[in-house]
Amino acid sequence: MNFHGKNAVVTGGANGIGLAISKGVAAAGGAVWIFDRASENPAEAARSIGARACAADVTDRASLESAFNEAGVPDAVFVNAGIGGTAPLEDTTSEHWSRTLAVNLTGAFHTVQIAAERMKPARRGAIVLTASTNSFDGEADLIAYNASKAGLLGILHTAANELGPYGIRINAICPGLIRTRLTKASFADPGVISDYFKHIALGRGGEPEEVAQAAMFLASDLASYITGTTLVVDGGQLASKFGTWGKPADRFDGQRWVRSE
Ligand SMILES: NC(=O)c1ccc[n+]([C@@H]2O[C@H](COP(=O)([O-])OP(=O)(O)OC[C@H]3O[C@@H](n4cnc5c(N)ncnc54)[C@H](O)[C@@H]3O)[C@@H](O)[C@H]2O)c1
Repeated sequence: MNFHGKNAVVTGGANGIGLAISKGVAAAGGAVWIFDRASENPAEAARSIGARACAADVTDRASLESAFNEAGVPDAVFVNAGIGGTAPLEDTTSEHWSRTLAVNLTGAFHTVQIAAERMKPARRGAIVLTASTNSFDGEADLIAYNASKAGLLGILHTAANELGPYGIRINAICPGLIRTRLTKASFADPGVISDYFKHIALGRGGEPEEVAQAAMFLASDLASYITGTTLVVDGGQLASKFGTWGKPADRFDGQRWVRSE
């Protein structure tokens, strides 16, 4: 993929999937701007990959506006900042609900709106949302997260419809379980992952780079006729509704399921 001459913004770009996207776009020749909270030291993350950075909180409209002002007109915007957090329905506090929606959904709304405003006069641009398999799936104990990620599909479809006439594309990647600090505890517990990975056709979790490649594709000119849609990057998790693994020939090797026959 070629991002030469392209100006790219990645929210939540200082860690995990966002950092992998930033690295990938920079390596493909793009000028990359990492937007992240000051506490995550985005400047240091940017320096390590030849990118630039702005401290911005997606829940703070003014900080996002000034970051976009500094970055200039973007060709590609990766709307990726997000937080997790589990709690059963009855224990989900209003604070947890509001914070999750503020970052994952309202933060995405602000980012898409500002990006579109800047892309429209240029009559081009590509926006990629980081949604989730949880946009479709009712995984337990994640009501706030699932609602926020399902809500992104509303932004996706509506913005695609409104921005298409201006030559601006918007799509979403829907990652499954990916190894980042958000999922560190799950990946560190073989009991959890051996069970979870039984339901993933490829028998393992994903790496941030594997998601970044899909996101970059959607932002690139290779996806010139693709807008308003989702690309699921989950090792076959959504396809494997009743589970793939657990036959006598199957063995969990500590990281992934393997079949011996
Ligand atoms: N890891 C997974 O399994 C997985 C699966 C599906 C979707 N996702 C989504 O991928 C995205 C990236 O998550 P990750 O797994 O890389 O986690 P991560 O914690 O490594 O990265 C998230 C980044 O978002 C930033 N961020 C959080 N709140 C912010 C705010 N208010 N303003 C600006 N930046 C903010 C964080 O500082 C961090 O750099 C999130 O939207 C997450 O919901 C992750």
